[in-house]
Amino acid sequence: MPPSLRVAALVGLLPSVVLAANVTTPNPGTTYGTWDGWGTSLAWWANAFGGGSSATTLANLFFTTETVTFDGVSLPGLGLNIVRYNAGACSFNADPDGDTMVESPDIPSIKQMAAFWTNWESTDPTTSDWTWTVDANQRNMLSLAVQRGAIAELFSNSPVWWMLYNLNPSGSNDGSSDNLESWNYDQHAIYLANIAQKAKESWGVTFTSVEAFNEPSATYWVGTDGTQEGCHFDVSTMSSVIGYLSTELSSRGLTSTIISASDEETYDLATSTLSQYTSAALSKIGRINVHGYEYGGGRRDTLYSAVKAAGKKLWNSEYGESDATGLSLASNLMLDLYWLHNTAWVYWQVLDVEGWGLITADINSATTSGVAQKYFVLAQFTRHIRPGMTILSSGQANTAVAYDASSKLLAIVAINNAASSQVLEFSLSEFATPGTSGALVSRWETQMVSGGIQYEEFSDTFLSGSTFSATFPANTIMTFEVSNVVL
Ligand SMILES: *[C@@H]1O[C@H](CO)[C@@H](O)[C@H](O)[C@H]1NC(C)=O
Repeated sequence: MPPSLRVAALVGLLPSVVLAANVTTPNPGTTYGTWDGWGTSLAWWANAFGGGSSATTLANLFFTTETVTFDGVSLPGLGLNIVRYNAGACSFNADPDGDTMVESPDIPSIKQMAAFWTNWESTDPTTSDWTWTVDANQRNMLSLAVQRGAIAELFSNSPVWWMLYNLNPSGSNDGSSDNLESWNYDQHAIYLANIAQKAKESWGVTFTSVEAFNEPSATYWVGTDGTQEGCHFDVSTMSSVIGYLSTELSSRGLTSTIISASDEETYDLATSTLSQYTSAALSKIGRINVHGYEYGGGRRDTLYSAVKAAGKKLWNSEYGESDATGLSLASNLMLDLYWLHNTAWVYWQVLDVEGWGLITADINSATTSGVAQKYFVLAQFTRHIRPGMTILSSGQANTAVAYDASSKLLAIVAINNAASSQVLEFSLSEFATPGTSGALVSRWETQMVSGGIQYEEFSDTFLSGSTFSATFPANTIMTFEVSNVVL
């Protein structure tokens, strides 16, 4: 029985309505590291939209917090600061043996990402066996993002086609067999290291990390009917490739570039793969990347514990689904922040088909058709939990809390994902200075329903002592900023 009701019962008066407040009390004594940021992978959307004048508008929209006019609408920039660049696996030339790439009949050309190493005769990236003019659109969006302050990761969905047993960059014929030829483990590492070196020398991009695999334990990368680039790797093969990659990066002086691994589809697969790396491979890995395709399922807490025990960083490097309202996105992201304690979160494709896209787009025709509610839901997080802030224990799974020591600013993001409205109270009683009583708490609100309000700012919430509260309509996300907070 809540305390307020207990008092009423004791004095023998049961009022008709006594609602115990739902109070969230963040704990500044427990922290989960420095937030590295928010991002998107480039690949297909940047291949389609990365050229021309609209590329600059999109870069401003995604990689700044400015107000940007897009398709005649004024939008809050998302302020993403992580960009993942996809090293392509496709080319249409014959290799020195006369072999050519085998293509899945189901892969659209916009998803055939161009490879830089088109001929295996020379590992030297200055020879004509390497073509650096391809993939101009994705490279342009990479540059625009980095010019706006983003950090970059290089990732691969499949090794280049000629390194593969079946020459098919959509996967092996059965999906469950390794497709990278055993004599090409180092070649895949050389490919990625040469791209990282070229980017540093010629593109103005020093990759923060390199990821050699994408969902490598999956058995759904099947060459005969794949719709994208993909490749299965056994864990022992991953360990070997990681060793080569470490050697190739350091021999090129790329000492600030870490290796991330292995972008498994789910939290549980990531935990399993992590437990099977050789100790040599594990020692070369700087960060565990995991994808969020287990949504509400999976043991995020188990993965967090395993990664922490291994002394690595942890990112959710890929998330996406088809719920355009943003309700699924916000719910699953809250679960990440509460249980997984990742220090970055990366959306897969910001421009994509209806539901998946933050902006609805057809990449094949390079056309867009509107901004999804999901865009504004994500803005509630990305514009307020900024890189460099410290993530604090929030006290409740529907709430995320971040703190900026230099500006003494506390950001609180909370969701009500129930179908009825709810009053939520926030207590800063655990802070040394819980802000200034009576001060304005800035508030932003987005309803996670189609047609709902979109990232509106309100000046209607005030600290009373160390607490404040707000009435959350059904399926609503709110962000609060409290000034003058000291831990
Ligand atoms: C408080 O509200 C949150 C968010 O809706 C909910 O998850 C939690 O169960 C509520 N707590 C109580 C005690 O009702």
